[in-house]
Amino acid sequence: MLFDLKKQEHINTLLAKAGHKIDKNSGSVIPSIHPSTTYARDEDYNLISEYLYTRLDNQNYTEVELLCAKLDNGADALVFSSGMAAIAAVLETLNVGDHLVAPNVMYYAAQDWMRYISNKHGIGLTLFDVTDEEGISQAIIPGKTKLVWIESPVNPTWDVIDIQRAAEFAHSAEAILCVDCTVVSPITTKALDLGADIVFHSASKYYNGHSDVIAGILVTKEINERWEEIKYIRTHAGGVLGPFEAWLLLRGMRTLSIRFERVSQNALKIAQHFEYHSKVEKVLYPGLKSHSHHLIAARQMTNGFGGMLSILVKGGSEEALRVVKKLKHFVPATSLGGVESLVEHRASVESEKSTVPKNLLRFSVGIEDVNDLINDLDQALNKI
Ligand SMILES: Cc1ncc(COP(=O)(O)O)c(C=O)c1O
Repeated sequence: MLFDLKKQEHINTLLAKAGHKIDKNSGSVIPSIHPSTTYARDEDYNLISEYLYTRLDNQNYTEVELLCAKLDNGADALVFSSGMAAIAAVLETLNVGDHLVAPNVMYYAAQDWMRYISNKHGIGLTLFDVTDEEGISQAIIPGKTKLVWIESPVNPTWDVIDIQRAAEFAHSAEAILCVDCTVVSPITTKALDLGADIVFHSASKYYNGHSDVIAGILVTKEINERWEEIKYIRTHAGGVLGPFEAWLLLRGMRTLSIRFERVSQNALKIAQHFEYHSKVEKVLYPGLKSHSHHLIAARQMTNGFGGMLSILVKGGSEEALRVVKKLKHFVPATSLGGVESLVEHRASVESEKSTVPKNLLRFSVGIEDVNDLINDLDQALNKI
């Protein structure tokens, strides 16, 4: 037992105590970093511990994985060198001739990778319209679809896909459902409890929370052949996280619940404040009652609507970029989920294939004082 936590402990306690155990030799209350790449054997040539070689496993990975499995009520978890490495490992389990279903709006690089493997390895790919309630069921081909991949809410329009319904559709066709929960985290959505088979988090975002670690997490509902294959892929393709990064990630995770609570409060206040602003065409945030998927969001996001929102500025690309240039507290940078607020003009970042509206600004709301953020956005909008 790496840390003594009972299953019934609240998620806040699980996180705050993550990895804390008193080291018998030094009295240290935080875990050590285990940089050793290799592990010795005893006089009978048996391994001294459960570890053999760090590309396979390492105590710092185990500490993160135990916690992640508990947070999502999963059977097991795996930490990867990036979110994309974790996504690629899941996609790698598809065989030639299999069919994959994904949303038309989702994290851009993951969709791009799906297109790449679809073309290269003869895997069918259907992208369904997230605004069409029947889109997902119509995209699934019973007997051929093996994997349904969703995000909820989707990035960067924050339309909400009903996870429970998606799981029912996937399972009725004997496919599995994998949910990218990067922007919600298990603080507010536990996708496995809603029927998903695998949950994915880019731990580079809210899990770590300090914009200084790139990492990915997969959590499985059950240990089965596919999960064993994913483990094999991680070990053999080598997409493991370094022990130091795993240690940093665990440190960041200890404050996940309070960070997520604060960003959810801040984002909701910002969304409400700017909903009817004269320079704003629309605020996209699932916590707003006016959001077309608010009812699904309220059911599925049980502890806050998260820190991500988008604003459609009146005008086009030029007006949106002018706002970005006037902002002082929102850092103009990609990514999300850190303690600092970020703003991004997605259309400039994605390629010409992007369907993101040119007047859309995506905000990752941080933990700063919300009045400073509101005043900043107000002054920037009023200058266009
Ligand atoms: C929703 C979502 N999924 C997956 C990823 C990929 O994760 P990583 O950057 O850790 O590889 C990102 C990164 O921005 C993301 O925002």
